[in-house]
Formats: sequence, structure tokens, C-alpha cells
Amino acid sequence: MPVITNIDDLHRIYRRRVPKMFYDYCETGSWTEQTFRENTSDFSQIRLRQRVAVDMTNRSTRSTMIGQEVAMPVALAPVGLTGMQHADGEIKAARAAEKFGVPFTLTTMSICSIEDVAEHTEKPFWFQLYVMRDEDFLRRIIQRAKDAGVSALVVTLDLQMLGQRHKDIKNGLSAPPKPTLANMINLSTKWRWGLGMLGTKRRAFGNIVGHVEGVSDPSNLMAWTAEQFDPRLDWSKIEAIRDMWGGKLILKGIMEPEDAVMAAKIGADAIVVSNHGGRQLDGAVSSIRALEPVLDAVGDKIEVWLDSGIRSGQDVLKAVAMGARGTMIGRAYIYALGAMGEAGVTKALEVIHTELDKSMAFCGHRDITQVTRDILRVPRGFSGDWD
Ligand code: GLV
Repeated sequence: MPVITNIDDLHRIYRRRVPKMFYDYCETGSWTEQTFRENTSDFSQIRLRQRVAVDMTNRSTRSTMIGQEVAMPVALAPVGLTGMQHADGEIKAARAAEKFGVPFTLTTMSICSIEDVAEHTEKPFWFQLYVMRDEDFLRRIIQRAKDAGVSALVVTLDLQMLGQRHKDIKNGLSAPPKPTLANMINLSTKWRWGLGMLGTKRRAFGNIVGHVEGVSDPSNLMAWTAEQFDPRLDWSKIEAIRDMWGGKLILKGIMEPEDAVMAAKIGADAIVVSNHGGRQLDGAVSSIRALEPVLDAVGDKIEVWLDSGIRSGQDVLKAVAMGARGTMIGRAYIYALGAMGEAGVTKALEVIHTELDKSMAFCGHRDITQVTRDILRVPRGFSGDWD
């Protein structure tokens, strides 16, 4: 096993081992990718305050997210096509997460189905819902999630249509990949990935194929989202979903205080400040810049989490110190999964945990739940000195 000391190491191996089409799908933002880039570069503008001569024994990164105990305030975010990054990817990631003690979120756009993941894991996981036009499908998928013992529903609010990612169009992204000459040439260099895929029957969108009518090409994500996703999604529909579900509800994709206030009003348990990893509205501010105004609006009423841009334990620490109760990671674990399957995801979680734990200690703290904004140096006007 190569020596892995940080998420970048996993990223490098990931790039070598996974077909270009799926690497590009993960490592892209929409249009100019400004928001995608700033999600990470804005984290590095925040600095940490080093403290000394503080007892560093008995440290704890344990916390809770919507009342659930977590080994650190990090959950695995829903990521489309995870099972194309590595054979049975959703099952592998879910198993690594449950062993580590952090929540796993399965996306509607997964390759392994809800039932598959439930069958191969022991603890309840979270399910992320994309709202489709077909009300019957919506009702059925919510029921399927309940039957599988899902413990929280994450409704993503910022993807009624797919943002334009140039690379996906140029690569002809599909699951499974079509046997074009360019794909065959690229796949022939990815033997490890290919062997894994030959060894599984899970190669199509498991929650969709066989469950939705009228999809012209179910392997083409862009085509079926355009045909199926409900562009009319509004707050009344979110309330209807809340009632249909009746359990813990997390609303993901909130960037503005007005929307956060609405989310709190309808009784969500948590919101995720997220710009979808820069994959939807390019030109939106980074999520770390969007966090404080949202906290000012609803921080005392609802749990506020952050996703988009986290690639290290220091990023987790910065988000938590700013006031986020929890965080979600997407790409950071996908790199790891594509690089080394379940062992890779475990490694990514260990790396992030070690960085979080040691950085917290260097900042003079022993308990993540006690960390506050005092440990940060934040540039003036960071959350937006703009009209
Ligand atoms: C799906 O969530 C995507 O960003 O492609």
C-alpha cells in the first residue's frame, strides 16, 4: 500500500486509476468553475491562532449531528455515480463510514440501490432525495427509504436542473460508459477499475432503472434529470415531502439567510450551507463565506452544517469554529474510494480526523464541541463586503 499522508495523495492515485469520464465528473464545477475553485481557496484565507502551554491530553472530536453521535462532525455527502468511481462504491463507502462512526448519505443518483446498501450495512444511513415530477415515484422512493431503515432524509434544493459542466458533455458521461473508441482506449488503461466492474452487477442507476417510466436513456444522467426532475419544486412541495417522510429532515443547498429562515420555519432539523461543490450556480460565493450570514439568521433555531470545499481536517475545524455544527465531505472521500475502495475511504477519514484533532490541540482545545471562533483569524469583510 502506498504511504498516504493527506487527501492529495489519494487524489493523485484516484486520477491514475479511474476512467477519465468519472474523474472529470467528480473534479468539475459548472461553467467557469470559479465557485468550485473558491470553495477551497477561501478556506485557506482563514488562519488559525496557535496557543501554547495548554494540556493536550484526553482530546475528543466526538459530537452530534441531528442528535446522532458522530466520531467527528463530518458526514459523507451524497455524490452521484459513486458506484462508477469504484465497483459497489456506495456499499464500500457506507461500510467505511459506519465502521468509523460517521453518517453516510446515499444519493438518489446512486449505482447501488437503497435496498442494496441496507442489505450490506448494519447501521441506518441517510438518504438524499431528488424531487422528481412523477409523484408516484416520489411516494415510492420515500417508502423504500423508510422500509430500508433510513434514519434521515436529505432533500437537495439546488438541483431542479443540472448545472452545465462542460467536461461531462464533451465526455458523453453515462453509466455505464458507452463503448465508443475514446472510452475503450481510456478504459484499457484502467484495468483495476475494469476488473472491479466485471465483478459486480451494479453498473446502472440502481434507484431509477426499473422504478421510473418514460426515461429515454437511463444511462444518461443529463437526459434523465432533464426529463424527470421537478422544476416546480417550491416550499409547499418541501412541506408535503416533510409530511410524507415524517422523520428527521435535512435541507441541503441553502446559501442565503432568507432561504435559511424558510427552512427553519418549516421545521427542518438541519440545513446544509452548500453550493453543491460549485457544480450548480457558478458565480455563487464559496460556502465558507456564506456560512456566517446564515448562522446570524437561524443559528439559534436550527443546526447549520457546511459542505463544499472541505479537503482537510483543518477545513472541518475552521467551519466548526465559525459555528457550523457539522460538515459534509464529497470529493475528499470520492478520491479515496476511487483510489483504494473501502480501505481508501477509511484512510481519508483517518487523515481528516488526525488533522482535525491535532490542529484543534495546537489551537489550545481538547473538545471539538467547545471550539469557538476565537481560534480563527478571519480576513475583514470575509463574509461579504459587497452590495
Ligand atoms: C449531482 O448531484 C451532481 O452534482 O452531478
